[in-house]
Amino acid sequence: MSNFTSTNGSSTKQASPVDNEIIRLDGVYKIFGAQPRGRAYELAKAGVGKNEVQAQTGHVMGLHDVNFSVPQGEIFVVMGLSGSGKSTAIRTVNKLHPVTAGEVWVDGVNVQDLNGPSLQAFRREKMGMVFQHFALFPHRNVIDNVGYGLKVQKVPRRERDKQSMRALALVGLEAYAQNAVSELSGGMQQRIGLARALASDPDILLMDEAFSALDPLIRRQMQDELMEIQNELRKTILFITHDLNEALRVGNRVCIMKDGAVVQIGTPEEILTQPATGYVAEFVQDVDQGRVIQVREVMVEAKPIPHDSTLDDAISALTGRAGAFCCDNAGKPIGMITTEDGIRAAGVGSTDLAKAMREDFDVTTADATLNELYAPAGRGLPIAVVDDNGVLIGRLEPRDIMEEMGRVENLIDGFEREVFM
Ligand SMILES: Nc1ncnc2c1ncn2[C@@H]1O[C@H](COP(=O)(O)OP(=O)(O)O)[C@@H](O)[C@H]1O
Ligand SMILES: [Mg+2]
Repeated sequence: MSNFTSTNGSSTKQASPVDNEIIRLDGVYKIFGAQPRGRAYELAKAGVGKNEVQAQTGHVMGLHDVNFSVPQGEIFVVMGLSGSGKSTAIRTVNKLHPVTAGEVWVDGVNVQDLNGPSLQAFRREKMGMVFQHFALFPHRNVIDNVGYGLKVQKVPRRERDKQSMRALALVGLEAYAQNAVSELSGGMQQRIGLARALASDPDILLMDEAFSALDPLIRRQMQDELMEIQNELRKTILFITHDLNEALRVGNRVCIMKDGAVVQIGTPEEILTQPATGYVAEFVQDVDQGRVIQVREVMVEAKPIPHDSTLDDAISALTGRAGAFCCDNAGKPIGMITTEDGIRAAGVGSTDLAKAMREDFDVTTADATLNELYAPAGRGLPIAVVDDNGVLIGRLEPRDIMEEMGRVENLIDGFEREVFM
């Protein structure tokens, strides 16, 4: 797990490099005020906290030694309460904010070096942006709104409309191309915002609280759509939210911020099972307490693999799954074959399923609650659900556990109001 605590501000903790890195923040500080590189910065570097820096200097510490590294194709979520520095962080990526110290790299370019036309071109070509309050032209039709950025780039009408229609199709609004924006609902307008960002086919999407103003049901749909689009197009998405729920649901990794500093970076599973600090634990703990959801509500069809299958047959039966259980003639799980193990064994010429199977797998019952299963879910492999006789009756996929957690939105919202507002 990569996690960066920020107890000692005097040292720069570099983010561990990731493969295919496309965005990197290295020791980034952002101080707001008349003299950003003055005493406020000295104090910040010495590890003095945000409130104290403000009290002593009247300067706001927007970012404090922020380090993260995002690989191509990842949905990287920055999560934190209001004022924690999320927007400031994302704005360093397109240099809407110059940084006080540190470096921001995007696809091998040091963003701080860009100015004027080169900065504009870089933003245009590399990234699309979606914000909570998205400025659409109410009197223009949908397709012209989506194609607006392309028009600014002087893309000819035909090509522009073609690209705009493709983007509209991605968000399911082709049929509305000719409608006026003012005729559409808030959720649809936010989709148009997303389509606009996608129209120029940028590598990177920057989404700052893009779904936060939507009501929960629409928001969930938008999250699903975003994940679908992501599956299809493999964009890199820097996604900002103040909603833990949303963060865990859409993020491949989640970066939790507090007072301008990174508190923890990890997969949703890691955040839940290994909270790095008491602060994160508090968020997570409440999720736990609130969970009364039983395994039976989340489990899916077991689809076991007969123990007498060949290894090849087992591997084909696994498609799309991380692993499956092998059952004996009584239907009891005796082992698990993972895609990884299977392919490795087959790679060295084995045809024997029994040899590739592992016997250490997690087992639960239908009436267990999900909060008992975070740790096993963190292993990323399915969990066997058995009845009183030990017969396999279903399986739990770690993804489903995390997704199910996302459904307690009101609970977490209420918790944030109570504890942090
Ligand atoms: N332009 C600015 N001038 C002064 N302070 C700012 C400015 N922008 C943000 N801040 C301050 O920086 C901190 C982080 O803000 P922001 O990144 O907007 O937080 P978030 O997006 O997490 O709500 C806050 O204390 C905010 O008041
Ligand atoms: Mg913000």
